[in-house]
Amino acid sequence: MGTPSAPDVVVNTTGLTKRFGSTVALSDVDLEVRRGEVFGWLGPNGAGKTTTLRLLMGFARPTAGAIRVHGRDPWRQPAAVHREVGWLPGDPAFHDRLTGRAHVRMAARLRRSPDDDKTADAVTERLGLDLDRPVGTLSRGNRQKLAVVLALLGGPQLLVLDEPTSGFDPLVQQEFQALVREHAAAGGTVLLSSHVLGEVQRTADRIGVLRAGRLVAVEEMSVLRGRSLHRVQARFDAPVRAADFAGVPGLRDVQVTASTLRCAAPAAALDALVGRLARHRLTDLECTEADLEETFLAYYGGEPGGR
Ligand SMILES: Nc1ncnc2c1ncn2[C@@H]1O[C@H](COP(=O)(O)OP(=O)(O)O)[C@@H](O)[C@H]1O
Ligand SMILES: [Mg+2]
Repeated sequence: MGTPSAPDVVVNTTGLTKRFGSTVALSDVDLEVRRGEVFGWLGPNGAGKTTTLRLLMGFARPTAGAIRVHGRDPWRQPAAVHREVGWLPGDPAFHDRLTGRAHVRMAARLRRSPDDDKTADAVTERLGLDLDRPVGTLSRGNRQKLAVVLALLGGPQLLVLDEPTSGFDPLVQQEFQALVREHAAAGGTVLLSSHVLGEVQRTADRIGVLRAGRLVAVEEMSVLRGRSLHRVQARFDAPVRAADFAGVPGLRDVQVTASTLRCAAPAAALDALVGRLARHRLTDLECTEADLEETFLAYYGGEPGGR
């Protein structure tokens, strides 16, 4: 998997911009993906995720700025880039009358890699796919499994996966996530896109958040977990005012109705919040951790560039 002297930065972009006519698909994106990490490329539909990955594969040319994969320009050296990349397109195309195995053989011939049947059989078994059926008879989930198998052929250093888990049921999703983690643990790099945090939160080391073509955040998953919001509801024996709780850092969605306070607080603010609550006489207190998706939307779900 790559040479020891290869630099730690596997993908980097500087001022990466792509316009289609008057549509700005990607605007001034600076990004670094490092060797050995799983990087989640997140954003709502139309944010520019697929465009980024297609630029990375050299299928399109940047309007401005630059993208490098292992130091190479994919537009100028697509073959060299493709040798090191396993690609799973957002909309994989197959020959419906051919079996999965025929697809594997074709891809293996293109890659000139002798071990491919072994890789394919191992991955196929883990995901639970029948390689001997014509692809036209496969369900959407099974076609997606075949796309995963094809991306892994030949042991590429970098996996570039565009919304790979759409169509997987939870068990297959788990097995897929294990494959991704194993790839990174063996020194490989994974860049995978999704429009939902839940799909990448168990695998990603870092995430980049794209909105309307702009990179609005790059975050370690562990940091995002540390900022996870807690929903708090407190009842008091007398009316309170919102102003009583102002100044608690990071407090959100504060609602005060008579003698009840509802709000959301990041874990780090709970101590300060409890200090304020204790200035009044509490009759009831509830505190539940929100799921990561809710935390994510609270921080990154606003207007582009807004937090
Ligand atoms: N080939 C194309 N021609 C014109 N517009 C495009 C093309 N590809 C993407 N776009 C536009 O660029 C924007 C980003 O699209 P895309 O990268 O597919 O987003 P995502 O993958 O995050 O859903 C969208 O507004 C989309 O309509
Ligand atoms: Mg897309």
